[in-house]
Amino acid sequence: MTDISANITFAEQINQILTLPSPLQKLNDDKFLAHGMEVFVKRDDLIHPEISGNKWRKLKYNLLDAQKQGIRQIVTFGGAYSNHIYATAAAGKYFGFETVGIIRGDELNENSSETLRFASKCGMKLHFVTRTEYRNLREQPDSNSIIQSYRNARIIPEGGTTPLSLSGVGEMVDEILQQFGQAPDYILCPVGTAGTISGIIANTNSQTKVIGVCVLKNGQYLLNEIDTLLKSNTMSNDGRVLNPAIVNYEILWNENHGGYAKKTPELIDFVSKFNAVHDFEIEPIYSGKMFFAFYKHFLEIIKPNSKVVLIHTGGLRP
Ligand SMILES: Cc1ncc(COP(=O)(O)O)c(C=O)c1O
Repeated sequence: MTDISANITFAEQINQILTLPSPLQKLNDDKFLAHGMEVFVKRDDLIHPEISGNKWRKLKYNLLDAQKQGIRQIVTFGGAYSNHIYATAAAGKYFGFETVGIIRGDELNENSSETLRFASKCGMKLHFVTRTEYRNLREQPDSNSIIQSYRNARIIPEGGTTPLSLSGVGEMVDEILQQFGQAPDYILCPVGTAGTISGIIANTNSQTKVIGVCVLKNGQYLLNEIDTLLKSNTMSNDGRVLNPAIVNYEILWNENHGGYAKKTPELIDFVSKFNAVHDFEIEPIYSGKMFFAFYKHFLEIIKPNSKVVLIHTGGLRP
């Protein structure tokens, strides 16, 4: 296990452990070429096998900030299959933080899922709570006795989205601009808690339209979440002023295939055919729904002769 107090800086550790910038890969498909579109995939899934995709982007400045303040314990929340729990446990292992996962479901134990087994092996302490307790924690974290017992820890909410996450996601946008040499016309990403899309919106200018594919049913409340996040963080980590006022984005609400983690036969078929013909894989919960929606709607939502970047946010396990 690496220890952040060792001589090597956190930035150096990051460079040693993670693949950054993540590759930008062309998506070869004649149907896009026929409309003069150039489509690329930002392969954030390759950042690290265990801390992949948007999980790293969203965690980075939360961890750096904790480290700066001498905080060595990270407490976070999630369900038994949470990508965020998985990635936070791994990040704790690699970067020398103690981690605590508050897990929804007091009937569970560390062997209840692959995620929990992995998290526990990384050294994450698992704290199982009833669903009612979990809901209370989410709604009123500050007054909760469980949270109060971790007074010296950095508390990161379920899904890993905080105002600091926007800067980490912004670095992904910077990488795209550098790799591409110009701003793309469109960036598409899946939307769960809306942290990723908020970071993209905050770091693009009006020339780029951001399109989110909501993976949950009735996710319209996320519009408020995006608004709040954009207002909460108006400076990027390099001092650039983020732009909450420019709102060139759209969310597709009807591409959730029945709800979070639900799958239609069309989605399953699409993902398996996609994976059979491309040299990388997507999964059906996040990236699969985004790719599905893009293939289904590109003629309506994308202007001909545009340059498009699809964000592969990870979610595949080793
Ligand atoms: C693999 C993956 N992709 C996309 C998302 C959605 O990102 P966000 O929650 O920032 O909207 C998540 C959940 O955080 C995720 O685990």
